[in-house]
Amino acid sequence: MRLKICSDHESFSGEIASRIVDLIASKPEATLCLAAGDTPRRAYAILVQMARERGVDFTKCTFFGLDEWMGIPPSNEGSCAFFLHTNLFSRLAIEPSRIHLFDALASDARAECNRMDDLIRRAGSIDLILVGVGMNGHIGFNEPGVSPDLYSHVITLDETTQTVGQKYFREVTTLGKGITLGFRHLMGSRQVMMVASGLRKAEIIRKAIEGPINTNVPASLVREHPEASVVLDQEAATLLSVSRRLSE
Ligand code: F6R
Repeated sequence: MRLKICSDHESFSGEIASRIVDLIASKPEATLCLAAGDTPRRAYAILVQMARERGVDFTKCTFFGLDEWMGIPPSNEGSCAFFLHTNLFSRLAIEPSRIHLFDALASDARAECNRMDDLIRRAGSIDLILVGVGMNGHIGFNEPGVSPDLYSHVITLDETTQTVGQKYFREVTTLGKGITLGFRHLMGSRQVMMVASGLRKAEIIRKAIEGPINTNVPASLVREHPEASVVLDQEAATLLSVSRRLSE
């Protein structure tokens, strides 16, 4: 696992953006799975600007959704779909046929999971999965205690996720279940980039990077991926022993 600690949120966002733009510059038809959420929001804005300035074309990429709140339509601005369309897909002029997101309104959730698994299988594998880290250590909606042997699945959201998730919504919203790619997808991808920013993530990042590797802290499992990289800002890295050594 490679670890990069950036001085602040802006350089952290620039680092994430330039890694993705570099990947697409060398492989324009790459398959990508990019998290929604506050952590990569600024990175995506920089990515869009950088892609324009460097003339890097994302229109041949294929995008897979990482996760979604079950029952929340894509028109709701708290949904992952709304976030990704607004911050990335519309700005990069990605055609709908190249975007495969979970249908959170699907009446048959198992069939929806199978549909996503088939699409990914047909694509070969995912070149890059970018994941944020939840306050409880989830990645995607792989909540604490999740089996590492799953592909796409529906999961009951942890209380922390239900509470913290309210920040994305205008009104108090019932967030009972999530639909998500599983660890089998994560481990099968060519690269995983895990990102976290801010002091409030420092404790869970310490557990994920320096604690035992187990599903109580799903983010710790990322360390088992041969091509895992972790990008943090200084605040998120505060409690890491490596960070203490750097500041001594
Ligand atoms: C979102 C996702 C979640 C978030 C995580 C961190 O697609 O997969 O796992 O990455 O909850 O959220 P933020 O970035 O808002 O702190």
